[in-house]
Amino acid sequence: MNMRFEPSKGLTGRLRAPGDKSISHRAALLGAMSSEPVHIDGYLQAADTTSTLDAVRALGALVEINGDQVVVRGTGLREAREPDGPIDVGNAGTLLRLLPGWLAAQEGRTFTLDGDESIRRRPVDRIAAPLRQMGAQLTAREDRFPPFEIRGSRLHAISCELEVASAQIKSCVLLAALAADGATTVGEPERSRDHTERMLLRAGAAIHRNGKHVTVVNADELLLERVSVPGDPSSAAFMIAAGVLVPGSRLLISGVGVNWTRTGFLRILRRMQGIVLGDLEDETGELIAEEPVSDLDIAHGALEGTVVEAEEVPLAIDELPLVALLGCFAEGETVVHGAQELRIKESDRIAGVVDGLRGLGADIEASHDGFLVRGTGGLRGGTIDALGDHRMAMMGAVAGLASQEGVEVIGMDAADVSYPSFVEDLARLCS
Ligand code: S3P
Repeated sequence: MNMRFEPSKGLTGRLRAPGDKSISHRAALLGAMSSEPVHIDGYLQAADTTSTLDAVRALGALVEINGDQVVVRGTGLREAREPDGPIDVGNAGTLLRLLPGWLAAQEGRTFTLDGDESIRRRPVDRIAAPLRQMGAQLTAREDRFPPFEIRGSRLHAISCELEVASAQIKSCVLLAALAADGATTVGEPERSRDHTERMLLRAGAAIHRNGKHVTVVNADELLLERVSVPGDPSSAAFMIAAGVLVPGSRLLISGVGVNWTRTGFLRILRRMQGIVLGDLEDETGELIAEEPVSDLDIAHGALEGTVVEAEEVPLAIDELPLVALLGCFAEGETVVHGAQELRIKESDRIAGVVDGLRGLGADIEASHDGFLVRGTGGLRGGTIDALGDHRMAMMGAVAGLASQEGVEVIGMDAADVSYPSFVEDLARLCS
């Protein structure tokens, strides 16, 4: 479906961001691995996180859904049931990468993960490598893509250094480590989001951090009890960008998760002189259990270009298309380095952003690991292809509101898989 977004005269009002997608996936998975029922408040009701609830049901968990309140009665760490057929992960990359960690340790049972056409292009080789080192038995199409078969086996504790900073790969290893035979340590080149670590700490796991390394000791059981899911900073980011870019805007977004491993975009935006007030968490060395939240106050204002280096990339990974969009309106150059991971998201987000924004009048070029934008103070508008990628569609919508002539988003309905009320929320704030 195509959707058109006309120039806006300003976004004003209050908003609650939808529940955090990453935390919702983890709450459902850890709920399924827990021995006692887990009560989840604020669960994201969207296609990806529904896939996770369906998956844990197929594995033997009981799931009760009442709006955004979900109760998961799990099977325990080592008792996942072998389903009758393949587990459908839909379009959910996080489910595809995290679930195998749990399943790899289910001795004597076999599981197959498959999903939609887009998920069949998302690689699993980077989770397969450490899992195999632990003794997992895995088969993937072309040794790289779903369908992904996991034959549960006895796992060994390992020490591994990941080549890329990816919370999905790190989390997969941590989940596998819970049922391995000792203490497993995972190192990452840069810090990535740490929701899994925080939730495992709350669930009673023996887990600690030392700089860029996390160690978890195998456990008999997880006991999580309750998870309160904060508003998703990655979803809020689209509204924040609209508020900053469209003259006359003033927005208050309540209850946004401000775990510092998720607020890279807000720090980049502040460096660009964007007006975003809120009580952001400072960088934490020690592992902490809480997921802090804050209200954010956003106003329109002039922006300056900035440079984003590799260490900041994992902390803003899903928001980098928005950094490119902001760069179009900023004074001077905005450059992103070290973001080659963007090429293997729901679409090639470097190519998509560069071609898409150029088509709207931007002065932007791609590099192998990022992009460079020369700010021209605005965007003409036109048509942008979302390439079936929900975050590209939402970026196109925001571009339309801030453009001179409006933007037609083709290639996906902009009411997306992680922010179902996006279009309605935009319409309300613009009216
Ligand atoms: C996610 C981690 C990120 C992010 C994705 C969600 C997670 O992926 O892009 O949308 O929930 O762990 P990588 O860890 O592969 O960078």
